[in-house]
Amino acid sequence: MSEKTILRALKGERLPVPPVWMMRQAGRYLPEYRATRAQAGDFLSLCYTPDLAAEVTLQPIRRYGFDAAILFADILLLPQALGLDLWFVTGEGPRLSTVTSAAEVAALKPAAAIHDTLAPVYETVRILARELPGETTLIGFAGAPWTVATYMVAGRGTPDQAPAHGFMAEDRAAFAALIDRITEATIDYLSAQVEAGAEVVKLFDSWAGSLKGRDFDDFAVEPARRIIAALKARHPGIPVIAFPREAGPRYAGFARATGADCVALDNSVSADWAAAEVQKDGCVQGNLDPRLLVSGGPALETEARRIVRAFSQGPHIFNLGHGITPEADPENVTRMLAAIRG
Ligand code: CP3
Repeated sequence: MSEKTILRALKGERLPVPPVWMMRQAGRYLPEYRATRAQAGDFLSLCYTPDLAAEVTLQPIRRYGFDAAILFADILLLPQALGLDLWFVTGEGPRLSTVTSAAEVAALKPAAAIHDTLAPVYETVRILARELPGETTLIGFAGAPWTVATYMVAGRGTPDQAPAHGFMAEDRAAFAALIDRITEATIDYLSAQVEAGAEVVKLFDSWAGSLKGRDFDDFAVEPARRIIAALKARHPGIPVIAFPREAGPRYAGFARATGADCVALDNSVSADWAAAEVQKDGCVQGNLDPRLLVSGGPALETEARRIVRAFSQGPHIFNLGHGITPEADPENVTRMLAAIRG
């Protein structure tokens, strides 16, 4: 069998039709996801029940034939494995117990202790490695240390990540120790996903855009570089996608600085700029505005084709600039795929 399209793109190959998948492709816009989630009871039970987590991962593959499946889990399972309490408030989002001092950082569990909590995630990966169609690539993932830290410090999502910036300003050494602990745990977590059958891993740094200057270097670039170097040492050739969301001009050079094989672009970045400044270093992924999957119409097809054209001179994986939203129309996904695949 010829090599999977996503893996070819990640090696730097330019393909006549870009492979495609969507962030949050298993999600609330799909009626079959809502049914399985109701069966699980709540979101965390869905994440920790391997048969059901594998089922929702497979649903968008059956419906649309995407080129990749992303493991169904959440970036906040790792803080839970490090000893924090975690729960989700319906209609609001995640809540966690917090880490706001050097003593609380020191009291977190060691990286080596995470696997007890995360074992069901590895089982989901093993089921998927068995059940996915031969042409579909299995992507594992984790949150990048900065983004995970923003939730651990604030105990919830925040618009400006002010609590984490406050901790950083008050005690930079303690904050750096928190980033180090998450970095070590992330290496072990992603490594276990690869051992279970993940063929690619992705690091989600959803809040990278709020780091500037030296903070971006210390807390977005350096942890990603360490994680990628350690993973590639343990699993030679494992491809890594990095998503420093809203990094703006710092997208340029990010692949070189971190060793990522592919950089995922949010939709605030112009495709023409990124084709010149980011794609010159390797594969890029992105970057359709997810709102177009709500509004649909001719603008959806026009914009999808424009993105394909802008990145057509180099390696490209088609994706959204951020996750598909619950309001999206499943029919619009079919229209998007027709525009991309012709
Ligand atoms: O992309 C996928 O389909 C794979 C699964 C996945 C989820 N979350 C499932 C999920 C992935 C890769 C994530 C990553 C994630 N989780 C991120 C980084 C990417 C991003 O979106 O910026 C972040 C910041 C989180 C933390 C998180 N999880 C928040 C803030 C929320 C609440 C907001 C919301 O969308 O409801 C979640 C919940 C969540 N994670 C849902 C899903 C499908 C919705 C939960 C539900 O079914 O009620």
